Amino acid sequence: MADLGYDGRVAIITGAGGGLGREHALLLASRGARVVVNDLGGSVAGEGGDAGPAERVAREINDAGGEAVADTHSVSTPEGGEAVVATAIEQFGRIDIVVNNAGILRDKTFHNMTPDLLDPVLDVHLRGAFHVTRPAWIKMREQSYGRVINTSSNSGILGNFGQSNYGAAKMGLVGLTRVLAIEGAKYNIKVNAIAPVARTRMTEELLGAMGEKIEPRLVSPVVAFLAHEDCPVTGEVYSAAGGRIARFFIGLTPGYYNPQLTVEDVRDHLAEIRAEDGYIVPASNSDELSLLVKQLR
Ligand code: NAI
Repeated sequence: MADLGYDGRVAIITGAGGGLGREHALLLASRGARVVVNDLGGSVAGEGGDAGPAERVAREINDAGGEAVADTHSVSTPEGGEAVVATAIEQFGRIDIVVNNAGILRDKTFHNMTPDLLDPVLDVHLRGAFHVTRPAWIKMREQSYGRVINTSSNSGILGNFGQSNYGAAKMGLVGLTRVLAIEGAKYNIKVNAIAPVARTRMTEELLGAMGEKIEPRLVSPVVAFLAHEDCPVTGEVYSAAGGRIARFFIGLTPGYYNPQLTVEDVRDHLAEIRAEDGYIVPASNSDELSLLVKQLR
């Protein structure tokens, strides 16, 4: 089979001045996509700003014969999101791919999680995905084509100590992914999420020496596939780390049914309620409801 190419496609990668976003941008550009390299250029905690990172990555792509433009707007406001999409339209005339990747960390245990730690994290990760995707979505609906990749995290899907703000934002992105997949279906807009692990400035302390092998560039093929015209899946979440790709899914156990359910029934049947044998993976609310209707009969 032929290699996957992106000629004619225009991609926005947020937070592409370094780490994972830079690798996504380099890969898509090397295969023909025209890329908006968005990055505010702040610290890991989201302080400050610097045009350098976005400009360097855009230059790297252009020097290698690709086509890229730097954009330094913050994704964390509606105006910033509009401006990022405007850059794509003004420079390249269209928008096909949005990779919501920009991110910051403000870890603290929950009893110390004050609004100054919560709000900026929600603003960049969760609201940022809304702010950038929405203006792009309007174009994608008009052209009946689009690919959106949201960057979730195992810290949200599985939970991680000291990351209530980040985990909530990252699991929020799974909800956004699921709903947009449904809304985008009839417009050939596919929306998926990744939960990556990679050694970047965000994780170098956490991963230590073992991190050497978990290179960010090994996540980018997953993003690129989900961004391709041939991508057959939507509304899904892929774990991507160090060259391994796998699917996270939400399962529903067959559970326990009793038309006169009492508190004690829940206590007495907890093992059955939790038992994983025969679980289903509902693709939508209606899959869950049809299981319920079957049981009610
Ligand atoms: P990174 O810190 O190298 O990249 C994040 C980039 O986002 C930075 O270049 C930063 O300047 C940019 N950014 C931050 N706020 C912004 C804003 N308001 N507007 C535009 N750009 C902004 O870290 P990394 O690891 O590459 O992170 C990329 C994404 O992957 C993040 O969403 C992160 O939460 C997620 N992730 C990373 C994991 C890892 O193991 N590295 C694990 C799970 C998720």
